[in-house]
This record gives sequence, C-alpha cells and structure tokens, in this order.
Amino acid sequence: MEQQKLKGQSVLITGADSGIGRGVAISMAKAGAKALINFVHNQDSAEEVVSEIRSLGGEAISFKADVSQETEVQAMFAKHIETFGSIDIVVNNAGLQKDAKFTDMTLDEWNTVIGINLTGQFLCSREAAKLFIKQGVRNGVSRAAGKIICMSSVHEVIPWAGHVNYAASKGGINMFMKSIAQELAPHRIRVIGIGPGAIQTPINKDAWETPEALNKLLTLIPYGRIGQPEDIGNLAVWIASDEADYITGTTIFADGGMTLYPGFTDNG
Ligand code: BGC
Repeated sequence: MEQQKLKGQSVLITGADSGIGRGVAISMAKAGAKALINFVHNQDSAEEVVSEIRSLGGEAISFKADVSQETEVQAMFAKHIETFGSIDIVVNNAGLQKDAKFTDMTLDEWNTVIGINLTGQFLCSREAAKLFIKQGVRNGVSRAAGKIICMSSVHEVIPWAGHVNYAASKGGINMFMKSIAQELAPHRIRVIGIGPGAIQTPINKDAWETPEALNKLLTLIPYGRIGQPEDIGNLAVWIASDEADYITGTTIFADGGMTLYPGFTDNG
C-alpha cells in the first residue's frame, strides 16, 4: 500500500466500473479509502474493480444505480451508510457522450446526456450534502465534514461542435459546483471540480485507437501525451485529502495543456 492519505475514510464513486471512475476508485483505495463502486450496466467490470481493491488489501462493494433516477440514488447512499457506517467523499464521475450534429440532435440525446451528466451530479451531491451535514466533522478522520468531487472536462470551457449536449452539461457543472460550494462551505463541506483533458478510456476510443487519430489528438496536447486514468486518480486523492483542505469551489484542470489554446503556438 502507498501513502494512506485517506485512511479511515469512505468514498462513493459513480460510474466506477470503467475509465476515469475506475482509476479514481483504485487510487483512492490505495490511499486507504473504503469504496462503493457504482455501475449501471456492467456488473462484471464493477466486480473486477472490487476484486482489484480487495487484492490490494482494501474494502469495496459494488452497487447498481442509474444516477439520473432519484430513488436509485437514495438507495445507493443508504447502502453506503449501511455498509461503511459513514461517508466522507463522493466522486460524481458517471458521464456519457451522445454525439450528433446540432441540427440532427434528438431530444432524447439531449435529455440523456443532461440527465446523467448534470442531473446525476445534482441528485448524488444533494444526498451527500445531507449526510455530511448530519455527520459533521469526524475528528481524527478529516478536517472537512465531507468532500464532493464533480468530474467535469476541458469542455467546461472549450466549446465542442458536434457535442453540444455534452459541453452544455460540463459548462453547467461549473456553476453547479461553484454554487453548492458557496452554500455548503459553512458546513465544512468542500466541493471541487476536476477538468480532465483527453484521458485514454473507452469514451474517446476513436480519438486514440489508430496512430493517425492519436497524432491528430496530440496536436491538441502541448505536453505531448494522452492522459491516463491514474493522472486523474492521483489528483482526486489529493483533492479529497486534508492537504487540499483550503480548496473549494474551483475546477482543477488535468489536461496536459489542452486548455492553453495550442492552436495559437506560432500563429494569431
Ligand atoms: C471527452 C473526451 C475527449 C476529451 C478532450 C472529454 O471530456 O469525454 O471524449 O477526448 O474531453 O476533448
């Protein structure tokens, strides 16, 4: 086991069966947090994450819930408390893309992305906040009563043609995160966004699976490499730890410089 920055704490991570969520779950478990691994479709992958955490000496359970459904979210938080007794960290990670040209985008494609990416974060954060307020600061565990991490994207600030539903959901996350951070700070609850750039996961497979696609993608990343789930996992552990106790209401980008307007390097 690595340095145990989150020892004695528990975390609920949505969409933790693959991609960034899986990376965050494993990093947090290595840092000592007990974990609820949420999934909606792929139980086998969720069980693999649970087994990996157990093989590292950690504690984890999986739980199926659609984060856009209020009763399923409430049942998931109840299960977390029943299993671990308390809750310290929530990572609102579940998210998806349903890409389409704007004029072709269906209402269903719009509603599904907003429902999971934005409403899902509302439902989970609200349950978390209620529990954190009830619990208060657990002395000797963390200086905060609770931490909420909102998974955003570079598309919180970078417009994205052909992905209007997704970019709107991430732009929405920014104001959602800041507004609840302002409201919850007096309760000693920290709320922080993470803005990943291109991380090598199933969601953006088309952008990295061939050498041509990867080379094109790399023109958008000044640091010259695609990100890995662990890059986000390491950041999430630090944000949730007391080392970041004075940070709330901001998004931290982890993007190899994607938000630095790389197209302007020798032009403009
Ligand atoms: C998207 C990925 C994309 C990345 C950078 C993420 O939020 O989900 O598909 O590769 O942003 O554009």
